[in-house]
Amino acid sequence: MMPNSEHDETVDLTPFEVGREPQYDSFADEYMDQASQGFYNAHYDRPACLDLLGNVVGKRVLDAACGPGLYAEELVHRGASVVGFDQSERMVALSRERVPTGEFRVHHLADPLHWLADESFDLVLFPLALEYVDDRVRALSELRRVLRADGALVLSLQHPTANWISKGGSYFETRVIEETWSKGWRVRYWLSPLETTCDEVNRAGFLIERLIEPRPTAEAALINAEDFERLQTMPGFLAMRLIPRRS
Ligand SMILES: C[S@@+](CC[C@H](N)C(=O)[O-])C[C@H]1O[C@@H](n2cnc3c(N)ncnc32)[C@H](O)[C@@H]1O
Repeated sequence: MMPNSEHDETVDLTPFEVGREPQYDSFADEYMDQASQGFYNAHYDRPACLDLLGNVVGKRVLDAACGPGLYAEELVHRGASVVGFDQSERMVALSRERVPTGEFRVHHLADPLHWLADESFDLVLFPLALEYVDDRVRALSELRRVLRADGALVLSLQHPTANWISKGGSYFETRVIEETWSKGWRVRYWLSPLETTCDEVNRAGFLIERLIEPRPTAEAALINAEDFERLQTMPGFLAMRLIPRRS
């Protein structure tokens, strides 16, 4: 995930096929190189989500939109067993290589998780990917289905306030952005106000147990002092721990 301040928007004349283009596939290796030790993943997002997940020893964890397996590697290291999926074949290959004990599969979040049984996971992890999904209620409902009644789902996303400051327009409008980031990564993602995201998780059958607006770790200051200072006074990402609502 790139910081908003580094985005370099360009006009692209070829529209995405709605929600189906495996957009991270062509830059999966570059993403892995950046995310393994980089500011925004290693020192900002991962510490926050891992903290929200809590103790994973002996837990069965579903890593949804697992990317190159950086979370999965840490979860296995901490004593969990991991099943992961991603729409990108290359991401899945990188995960298999990084975490040989994990089970990884190519799967698009627009499709039902028919290969996973009801209530078969203690925890579901879904970092930095909700904004790429068109039908978020449906995707979250499927993640709810495979989660045990006493389990929890942890997700993170770009903070809507940071997006609004960077993109302008109406904060309250839910809309799609298509842009090319400074490394040439072409992406399509949704901007939504916080109340819409809260409503979507609720409609998918979850209650928000905790919502945090993380600060980068102290080591992040050594990587990028300017972003470190900025993120002391304005949000960049947010993360939530969701629990299944008893109906
Ligand atoms: C910013 S990366 C995050 C990867 C990983 N969760 C992490 O935090 O390191 C976003 C990931 O979401 C995946 N993704 C995007 N849309 C998806 C979809 N509809 N179904 C499954 N995976 C998707 C991308 O392929 C990419 O690996």
